[in-house]
Amino acid sequence: MEALQSGGVDFQVSAETGQDHGRKSLRRTLPPAPAPLQSSEAFIRPHLRQLAPYTPILPFEILSTQLGRLPKDIVKLDANENPYGPPPEVLQALGKLEFLYIYPDPESRRLRAALAKDSGLEAEHILVGCGADELIDLIMRCTLEPGEAIIDCPPTFTMYVFDADVNGAKVITVPRRLDFSLDVDGIRNAVKQHHPKVVFLTSPNNPDGSLIGEADLLEILKMPVLVVLDEAYIEFAGDSSRLTWVKKHENLIVLRTFSKRAGLAGLRVGYGGFPLSLIKYLWRAKQPYNVSVAAEVAACAALENSVYLEEVKAALVSERERMFGLLQGVSFLSPFPSHANFILCAVKEGMTAAKLKVRVNFNYCQVDP
Ligand SMILES: Cc1ncc(COP(=O)(O)O)c(C=O)c1O
Repeated sequence: MEALQSGGVDFQVSAETGQDHGRKSLRRTLPPAPAPLQSSEAFIRPHLRQLAPYTPILPFEILSTQLGRLPKDIVKLDANENPYGPPPEVLQALGKLEFLYIYPDPESRRLRAALAKDSGLEAEHILVGCGADELIDLIMRCTLEPGEAIIDCPPTFTMYVFDADVNGAKVITVPRRLDFSLDVDGIRNAVKQHHPKVVFLTSPNNPDGSLIGEADLLEILKMPVLVVLDEAYIEFAGDSSRLTWVKKHENLIVLRTFSKRAGLAGLRVGYGGFPLSLIKYLWRAKQPYNVSVAAEVAACAALENSVYLEEVKAALVSERERMFGLLQGVSFLSPFPSHANFILCAVKEGMTAAKLKVRVNFNYCQVDP
C-alpha cells in the first residue's frame, strides 16, 4: 500500500517493505558497507556511527525559492502544522519583548501556571519542553540504559525510533492492525518477552488519525512498563485528553504541544503531564534554558485567547470533514477517517504517492508521498 496524507503529513507506509518513510525514519537503514574511519570519527560513539544520515524535510524558505512562490502563497501540509497560525495576541506580545539579554525562567513558571488553569492538571505535574520532541528524547535519556528497549507501534510518529536510535536503545516493534488499532496482546507478549522500559502510544495516531480506546489504554497501563501517551493532536479529536490521568497512574506520561492547536510549531513549545514520582528526575536532566523567552511569552499569549483557539479548532475539524468527502470522490484515493488535522489516503489504481506529490506541489501545496 502506498499512502499519502493530506491536510498535513509526515508519513508514508509501504506494505511491501514494512518500512515507514517519514521525515525522520530514513536513517534506520544502515549504510551498505562501513567506510574506513577517519581518525576523528573514532571520537564518535559507536552506535551513532552506525546510523544512516538523517533526511530533513525541506525548509519553507527553500521550498518557496524552489517553487518561485511567496511563502504566503504556499499551503504547507507535510508536517501537520496548523495553517491558521496563532492568535493575534502572540505577535503583539512578541513585538513587546524586553530583556532578551536575560536567560529565560528555567522552570517556565508563568506558562506552567497558565497550563494548569487550561488543563486542570496542577503545575507541579507539568514540565515544558522545546516541543514535545524534546520531551520524548528527555524521557528516553532519563529511563533507558544503552541496550534497553522501547516498544514502538508502527505506523506511527517516527521520532520514537529516531530518539531510541540516538539513545542506543533497542526497538521492539509491535505493528498496529490493518485498521490501525493497537495489538494489545502483541504488546503484552512483547512486554513479557523483552521487558521493555517504555511503550510509546499515539492518540490520535500520526499518520492515520485513529484514537486509542479507553479499554486498550487501561489494559496497557496494567503492564509493567512506562506508558508515554502522545496527544499532539488531541484537540481535534472530540475526545478528552488523558493529561490528568497521570495523577492516578504512576506509569503514565501524557505529552501535548502548542505546535498544532495553537499554530506555534516554529517557536517549539510542548509540555507533558507526569506523575510526581517521575517528574523530579526529568527536572534534574533537562537543559536549564530549554524553553526560550519568546516561546514562553507566545504560548502564554496563545492561551489567553481561548475563543480563537476554539474557532481555529472548529475550522480545522470542519475542513477535515469537507476534505474527507472530497477525497472520497477521487477514484485513485481511499481516505481513512481521521481525528487529527490531517487525512491519510491509500493511493491506488495506477497512481502512485510519488507521482501525486509532484502534481500537488505544482499547485503550490506541499504534501508527503
Ligand atoms: C504524534 C506527534 N507527536 C509530537 C510531535 C512533535 O510535536 P512538537 O512540535 O511539539 O515537537 C508531532 C509532530 O508532528 C507528532 O506528530
